[in-house]
Amino acid sequence: MKARKFLVLLLVMALLGSLVAGCGARSEQAADKPAESSGDSSGDTAAKAEPIVIKFSHVVAENTPKGQAAIMFEEKAEEYTDGKVDIQVFPNTQLYNDDDVIAAIQQNSVQMAAPATSKVSKLFPEWTIFDFPFALPSIEKVQEAMESEEIGGKLFNMLKDKQMLGLAMWDNGFKQMTLDDRPLYMPEDFEGKSFRVMSSKVLEAQFKALNANPTPMAFSEVYSALEQGVIDGQENTLSNIYSKKFHEVQEYMTLSNHGYIGYAVITNSEFWEGLPADVREGVEKALDETTQWVRDNGERLNQEALDNIKADNTLTEIHELTAEEKKAWMEATNPVYDMFEEEVGADLINAIKALR
Ligand code: LMR
Repeated sequence: MKARKFLVLLLVMALLGSLVAGCGARSEQAADKPAESSGDSSGDTAAKAEPIVIKFSHVVAENTPKGQAAIMFEEKAEEYTDGKVDIQVFPNTQLYNDDDVIAAIQQNSVQMAAPATSKVSKLFPEWTIFDFPFALPSIEKVQEAMESEEIGGKLFNMLKDKQMLGLAMWDNGFKQMTLDDRPLYMPEDFEGKSFRVMSSKVLEAQFKALNANPTPMAFSEVYSALEQGVIDGQENTLSNIYSKKFHEVQEYMTLSNHGYIGYAVITNSEFWEGLPADVREGVEKALDETTQWVRDNGERLNQEALDNIKADNTLTEIHELTAEEKKAWMEATNPVYDMFEEEVGADLINAIKALR
């Protein structure tokens, strides 16, 4: 009798044990289920997953075409991915200057940046193609160059060799010249003056062709270099001149439209390819829309900057280059094209010349 009771007890215990084990297995299965198919609290857990952080570093102020575009991109990308990405924009060289940001992208220390195309030429000389003097006569031609396979397509292809991807080209606008103590009308007026340039050999050659002294320098250092007289002048877009107050430490500006500043929106290729497909799709949609916006609004923002510079009334003179002066500037700087045929490549140079 005692033995039977003991056997029944053993059976009951075995039964209870298997019930408990079954429950455990079920709860493990529930935890493994993908969030979207669970339809209960496990879905909430997935929704609370940490967003993917995309640090976006740039050097200009927020009230510029690139500054505004970066903010717009942040808002749109977060919306289109339902918050699965957290775009963190760092303007005004808060993180890196443009020469350092390219290395930071390669190391994935930041995930996105938009350096001026000129600055990519430190890695690839071909990227200096947009710097040739008077190469691009209108915004339409700039966009044709950016879109074309022979120019934009070729430049983007190169980036892949250095752990980078080109995602878009963003517009800023045409460059103007400023100087401290005399107006710039004819090529002779450049003689002996030092001008800050972005890191680009073509820009250096442009100023040398005008008998001036080019001084490569990071954008963040230009204001104090002008203020302290380390350099005499500089070239930049109206939105950059206004937002960084260069017009307050210069006396003369010539509206010359002699060159263009546009941006390569770049990312780390491994990071980009590792993004979940739906996230990448949302971010790409945000980028496409922002690219279109900056294309449609870059010129307007630069015109507004000119109005603001005029309203500030700090410059002694704003001179618009006449047709005759433009011809003289072009003649003086034309030899720069031939100087770079080997380094940049005759194909690219001929493609950009065809747009003149
Ligand atoms: C500059 O260095 O002058 C510009 O490239 C700044 C910018 O990003 O527009």
